Amino acid sequence: MNDIPPIQWFPGHMAKTRRLMGESLKLVDIVVELIDARVPRSSRNPELDKWVKGKPRLVVINKCDAADSNVTQKWLHWFEEKNIPAVAVDCKTKQGIKSVIPAVRKVLAPELAKRSEKGMSGKPLRMMIVGIPNVGKSSLINTLAKSKRAKVEDRPGVTRGRQWVSLENGVDLLDMPGVLWPKFEDPIVGEHLAFTGAVKDDVLDMEWLAMRLLFLLNMDYHNLLAQRYGLEEDSIGMDGPGLLAQVARRRGMLLPGGLPNLERAAVTVLDEFRGGKIGRISLEAPEDTFAKFKERAIPDPTQEEQGTGEEGDA
Ligand code: G4P
Repeated sequence: MNDIPPIQWFPGHMAKTRRLMGESLKLVDIVVELIDARVPRSSRNPELDKWVKGKPRLVVINKCDAADSNVTQKWLHWFEEKNIPAVAVDCKTKQGIKSVIPAVRKVLAPELAKRSEKGMSGKPLRMMIVGIPNVGKSSLINTLAKSKRAKVEDRPGVTRGRQWVSLENGVDLLDMPGVLWPKFEDPIVGEHLAFTGAVKDDVLDMEWLAMRLLFLLNMDYHNLLAQRYGLEEDSIGMDGPGLLAQVARRRGMLLPGGLPNLERAAVTVLDEFRGGKIGRISLEAPEDTFAKFKERAIPDPTQEEQGTGEEGDA
């Protein structure tokens, strides 16, 4: 595969959300940063440190059911080492959900103690959930609120206003629309976010994206890929275009004349990855640097002969 084309997506409504978040910060006691377990590095908003400043923060790693559990454990250690409180959850099977509010209370223990001294323990805790589009903000709020009060919207880019949701246990929650940042620091970030559905598909070259995803998965998760799409033996070490064509053929997605329908296959692959159907996959481990992915963008033919695909675990 050749160089990674930069993906950027920062529409006007996100600039508005960014301002709204700044204004809303003073209304809350804690910021909950929701990130995607499959791409924990890319799904962290680099602007958040600047905004949140001294405000207490909790990282919630969502979609753990779709990620490699060993890698998620490594991320939890990574956050612990950095003294950043973090919990891992998934909104599909509700694993870990019960730990969220206790973790919020733990982070806010000093504030709660102060309130208690002043006889104000009844005051609700106010938290704001921030995260990229499609990371699961509405799902988490619905799960915590045990209702369908927050609208779950599956398309990134749909603007939603600021809304408060009262949870039963004295916690008020402020939902923010999904937000990205004006420029991804590295093309890898844009690509990983696009894989997960955080970037509007209309601005993406879906075929290219699916080829890239297949190429990367074929290195670290070949067996899952081969199982899902019934890939043939020659798919080991195959490039992205070859893999996408094979997926199209195996799924019977053919154009008149028998050529593989790459467009349909691309949509299928991306949908299935986003829906966790290919298997439990983590694209980023704490020890991975963006350099690792860059090397993978332009494979060195001499290395290829020795079988690149062996290293790394995410
Ligand atoms: P957002 O508010 O941050 O934009 O995200 P939202 O909750 O709308 O979730 C986006 C998609 O991610 C939804 O899938 C949702 O079901 C899925 N999702 C949320 N949390 C989890 C999780 O922990 N694990 C997994 N595997 N998926 C999760 P969808 O296909 O767009 O809709 P649907 O499947 O709910 O119909």
